Amino acid sequence: MKAGMLKENSLKGKNILITGGGTGLGKSMSAYFLKLGANVIIGSRNANKIKQCVKEFSIEFPNQITGISCDVRNYDDIKKIIDYGESKFGLINGVVNNAAGNFISPTERLSPNAFSVIIDIVLKGTCNMSLAIGKKWLKNDIKGTMLNIVTTYAWTGSGYVVPSAVSKAGVLALTRSLAVEWGKKGIRSNAIAPGPFPTKGAWDRLFPKIIQEKFILKDRIPLNRVGEHHELTNLAGYLMSDYSSFINGEVITIDGGEWLKSGGEFNWLDKIPSEMWDGIEGSIRGERKS
Ligand code: HXC
Ligand code: NAP
Repeated sequence: MKAGMLKENSLKGKNILITGGGTGLGKSMSAYFLKLGANVIIGSRNANKIKQCVKEFSIEFPNQITGISCDVRNYDDIKKIIDYGESKFGLINGVVNNAAGNFISPTERLSPNAFSVIIDIVLKGTCNMSLAIGKKWLKNDIKGTMLNIVTTYAWTGSGYVVPSAVSKAGVLALTRSLAVEWGKKGIRSNAIAPGPFPTKGAWDRLFPKIIQEKFILKDRIPLNRVGEHHELTNLAGYLMSDYSSFINGEVITIDGGEWLKSGGEFNWLDKIPSEMWDGIEGSIRGERKS
């Protein structure tokens, strides 16, 4: 892993709660925030996973990490983890809404429950956390920072992950709405929209082997590769730190140019071999003369 971007202690004095902080990108963010001096509280449904992760991080950061099980769909669980975090570290002043559920499926194959389970985790879970922590921050005059992990199809939409697209679009609207409503109290809300960053959770459900055999993911990405976790954690660390104190209501894309490639009208011309361009140019110039 490349060295972190931010100075030592950039997150000193921050008590940051990360949902889904025990796996994948959430775990990588937890690791970097700890390194930058933050106290970190992690929560997700699987108590063992959380316990294991806390144990692992405690070796290097003994008094900076804690966590309990928390289902973000359940408002009482959210209140519980906030109280728990505060009992360990004092008032929480940063939240990363990272927990998510997702899988690829043609929409018509979904049951109503399959649709709602994703909306409940991604959209309702983020609303639950935002509401609970927002009430607390406003009551205690805490100028907290909220970071929501969305994805680029929050604005393009996407087939085959429709419940997730609907939910991430909602989370983006929430981010921008609260940035204005609570910004006047000094509470910042921002989002990161990652392209593909390999994690077990995402790869098992979105790019299973059978799909990987048929499609080359990196061909979709102008930079011709997937993301590396440190690239995302650097951005997340910056957005959670006071260095980004004037950034509010923003969504920052980190996808190597992926979504623009599929959006640009003529980007398919990538497929034209370079040796064909002389002929194409000649034909266009010829048309203009005739
Ligand atoms: C169709 C499916 C299905 C599938 C589950 N269901 N998998 N339907 N195709 N592949 C249906 C079930 O039949 C059930 O409906 C309903 O969905 C709920 O499923 P359960 O297994 O009972 O739910 P649960 O145990 O709560 O698991 C939730 C989950 C699971 C979302 C289905 O995948 C999960 O735990 N995910 C958490 C982690 C995760 O998804 N990480 C990836 C995030 S990546 P019925 O009607 O039968 O009850 C991400 C990246 C996006 O978001 C961008 C990438 C570039
Ligand atoms: P991941 O490892 O599967 O992370 C999802 C996390 O959410 C898990 O730790 C899971 O833990 C937790 N979670 C799921 N349901 C929950 C619930 N009801 N309550 C609390 N926690 C719950 O996948 P990831 O790739 O790191 O994804 C992290 C974030 O990045 C997500 O918001 C995802 O949409 C976003 N993202 C990822 C990519 C990518 O390429 N990886 C791209 C774009 C956006 P439990 O199972 O223990 O609950």
